[in-house]
Amino acid sequence: MEKTIAIAKGDGIGPEVINEGVKILKIIGQYTNYDFNLIETPLGGEVYKQTGTNLPEKSFNLMKSSDAILFGAIGVPDLPAGVAESAILKMRQGFDLYVNLRPVKQYEPLQDICPLKPEFFPNGIDISIIRENTEGLYARIGGIVNKDSAVNSMVYSRKAVERIIQYAFEFAVRKNHTEIISVDKANMLACSEFWREIFNEQGKKYPQISKKHFYVDAFCQWLIRSPSTIQTVVTENMFGDIISDEAAMLIGSLGMVPSANINPNGLALFEPIHGSAPDIAGKNIANPIGAILSCKLMIEEKFNDPKLAQFIEKAVITSLEESRTLDIYPRSVDKTKKLKKTTCSDMGTIIGNELKKILKN
Ligand code: NAI
Ligand code: MG
Repeated sequence: MEKTIAIAKGDGIGPEVINEGVKILKIIGQYTNYDFNLIETPLGGEVYKQTGTNLPEKSFNLMKSSDAILFGAIGVPDLPAGVAESAILKMRQGFDLYVNLRPVKQYEPLQDICPLKPEFFPNGIDISIIRENTEGLYARIGGIVNKDSAVNSMVYSRKAVERIIQYAFEFAVRKNHTEIISVDKANMLACSEFWREIFNEQGKKYPQISKKHFYVDAFCQWLIRSPSTIQTVVTENMFGDIISDEAAMLIGSLGMVPSANINPNGLALFEPIHGSAPDIAGKNIANPIGAILSCKLMIEEKFNDPKLAQFIEKAVITSLEESRTLDIYPRSVDKTKKLKKTTCSDMGTIIGNELKKILKN
């Protein structure tokens, strides 16, 4: 099976973690009948400094004609905020990747670094956050008005709300979930009132799924109070961005969570949810698992190969029993005895070796 994958590494730790994702894709190419054609598509802040654009047309067109995109992160500290990062919006809006699926799943070896006591997550944590990815405040409607004021307008169209809510219900059905939570701020925001109305309308088509609403502030406490009970969550763009970082810490680190940016009838882009992390860039200490699990998500959601996806996940879990990057290394000494502290590139190699063992059998 021939697949062309655009490899968009970006800035900071983007290249470091994506190199580990590429390692995994190459192993899959070697041991299965996938034949991956990996094409680098430069983008981001460093590219902006050299070329004056954060997303060269050539990269955009190569991505557009690919079967899937693997993306790292964008952002450099020496450019004004947004100058590099707007490339992310160009891809999400340009390819109409309106679904942002963020699975936040706790792996057993990492229960020891969950900041909650075990009784808070009696059945583990396996939450699928589905974030609207093209509108809301991130449509960047507005700007600095003058030196004394700035404005951003939150805009939602019926089309955007309907399609993301529909996707979320269909996802919940596909995953045999019994409940879906819609997160909004309908007590304060007109866009949320509109969202809630459409959620209720669409929900009528899915009588088998129970529905809950949370205001975003209350949802943040619910996430801490009862994470084991949460299944599918659907929410607007900015709320989804924020709650997924909070959820990530429940399973160990921002570096653990993958995401899929999907147009169900078109392209899909896979990326870890974290940014370029300039504070740790260049040190080979970043956690590459979010990037590796983004490859898993690609195999699962785009190439419809759940069995191979499971193999990748299994390789990750087995590796975590012995080796950890700094961000997921236990803080209490007694738990560290049998655990090796490892680098970004070694973590990728260790997971790759586990995957090889599985694929050889
Ligand atoms: P960040 O996600 O880059 O980092 C937040 C914190 O988490 C930092 O302390 C970082 O060291 C840590 N962290 C993140 N990923 C990690 C990993 N894989 N392993 C270990 N630790 C990890 O967010 P921050 O610092 O707010 O933003 C940095 C830059 O990234 C900014 O320019 C921002 O605009 C950009 N950004 C880009 C995103 C993207 O490309 N999709 C998403 C979020 C932020
Ligand atoms: Mg974010």
